[in-house]
Amino acid sequence: MGFLSFFPLVGSIVLFLVFSTATAKPSSFSVDIRGSGVMFLDGPLTADNIGVFTLNNNVYSTDINLGGINLTVNLDTGSIDLVVLKPGLPFEFTNTTTLQTNESFGIGETTGTVQFADLQIGDLVIPQQAFFDATQVQDLGASGDGILGISFNVQSPVIAALAQAVGDDAAQQVGATPMINLFSHQPDLPDSFDVLLTRADELGDVAQGTFLIGAHDDNFQNVADAPQLTSVSNEHWSVVLDAMNVNGHAFQFNASRVQGVPPGKVAAVLDTGFSFPPLPPPAVDAIYSSIPGAVFSQTQGIWIVPCNETTQLSFVFEGNEFLVHPLDLTATSVGAFDSANPGANVTVCVNRFQYLTLDPNEFTGFDLILGDAFLRNAYASFNYGDVNTPPFVQMVPTTTDPNQALQEFQAQRAASLAKLPPTLDGQGAQFPANDANGPASSTAASSPGQPSASTTATAQNSTPSVTNKLNNGAGRHVVGWLGVAALLFGAFLL
Ligand SMILES: *[C@@H]1O[C@H](CO)[C@@H](O)[C@H](O)[C@H]1NC(C)=O
Ligand SMILES: *[C@@H]1O[C@H](CO)[C@@H](O)[C@H](O)[C@H]1NC(C)=O
Ligand SMILES: *[C@@H]1O[C@H](CO)[C@@H](O)[C@H](O)[C@H]1NC(C)=O
Ligand SMILES: *[C@@H]1O[C@H](CO)[C@@H](O)[C@H](O)[C@H]1NC(C)=O
Repeated sequence: MGFLSFFPLVGSIVLFLVFSTATAKPSSFSVDIRGSGVMFLDGPLTADNIGVFTLNNNVYSTDINLGGINLTVNLDTGSIDLVVLKPGLPFEFTNTTTLQTNESFGIGETTGTVQFADLQIGDLVIPQQAFFDATQVQDLGASGDGILGISFNVQSPVIAALAQAVGDDAAQQVGATPMINLFSHQPDLPDSFDVLLTRADELGDVAQGTFLIGAHDDNFQNVADAPQLTSVSNEHWSVVLDAMNVNGHAFQFNASRVQGVPPGKVAAVLDTGFSFPPLPPPAVDAIYSSIPGAVFSQTQGIWIVPCNETTQLSFVFEGNEFLVHPLDLTATSVGAFDSANPGANVTVCVNRFQYLTLDPNEFTGFDLILGDAFLRNAYASFNYGDVNTPPFVQMVPTTTDPNQALQEFQAQRAASLAKLPPTLDGQGAQFPANDANGPASSTAASSPGQPSASTTATAQNSTPSVTNKLNNGAGRHVVGWLGVAALLFGAFLL
């Protein structure tokens, strides 16, 4: 057994990635057509369209009501617990405990207690939901109100803390993660939730997507006919990936680390909480080396790509091909990266699919993580299965026309570059030379791609171990925290 550090592996680049001017959150979700003809739900939120939105393509949030308080939380298929990061909110508790836990994030630590309150998501009420209520939060910045974990009960710090008081079995029941708790209270509701992450345009508008519980979006009823991708891990939404194609050529992965995955295939976690998907380094190199003019920065461990260039990347599941939109391959980043002209801002474009640097001894259940930059290209239905059927995911592609996607990329990228400082593409060799001087080194959050030593999530009094040190899915949200930190440093990601 081993557990996943979902630490976001974006390395120091994130420190100078910058958010465009924060746009106000929409008061209601409305018609929105973006990307390759994907149409989103119309009108205000309905009972089952709870919605998910992003300001920056890195953090996806939804609105909930917990114990009478409205919260905006990160929607996270990769973590377990409902975590509230704002200390001292006057919840109407249904039960209280003095059980303490610690949860640490990449650049901040939280201490809190396990509490219970009624949770409302859309029109669905989940009675007596156990959650982590922070009493102390350091350094998390303007990170939203918390995290809604929507995976499985396995390795939950809340359950671990409760187990000390009521034993393992009872803790699994009373401490169940929100979706599992909901479905156990509402046996008639199909045990599934659907997610469609949308793409904020590069000029920083809010993008509204779909988060539906127990139903499929009218525009994606066909997801019910998609192949059932059985989860190969009881800890993650981890499914078998047949192939990754770059310009039509299949990349050769090493044998999967996960038992039961057929030769030539690998296991991929589908994780909304992971902004920049980490892949084995040779897979990242295969993608970006296929882009004309792209160069690799040894010191940063990132690819610097000419901002107007792209490649054709797709992932294949059970014979269904999911094309990745060119806008999801690279991100623009502005900073003083040009050592020849250190006072001036320049724009670079960097890889969104990044090196997986997790220690393979410290996790099980997957070979790579497909985060937001992949998930923006799929409508995905996550199903908990039943006594006879293990959990599975069904997906349909949303980026279906490569020519249209390319046109959108060219138009949007050109529009954003027109508003940004001059580009320094991969050929501008100053960028790697400037690594040590850029804003990247001006904060001390974490070294590139290395899981922070402080990423721990242990129940109080339990013995910290390598395994539970790495089990806090929420740690991944450091992408968001770092992004916020970057804002403070005046950097700027589009
Ligand atoms: C509250 O929690 C305690 C254990 O911490 C349990 O014994 C008690 O039954 C709970 N009360 C209710 C109303 O759920
Ligand atoms: C395969 O494994 C070897 C040895 O660990 C490693 O050096 C190489 O990068 C791996 N290749 C891929 C495609 O993951
Ligand atoms: C990208 O821009 C460069 C320099 O302006 C130009 O030479 C190149 O043809 C452009 N590439 C594409 C795909 O438009
Ligand atoms: C560089 O960009 C940042 C963020 O947009 C801005 O605050 C700063 O003033 C710029 N510096 C120069 C020299 O233009």
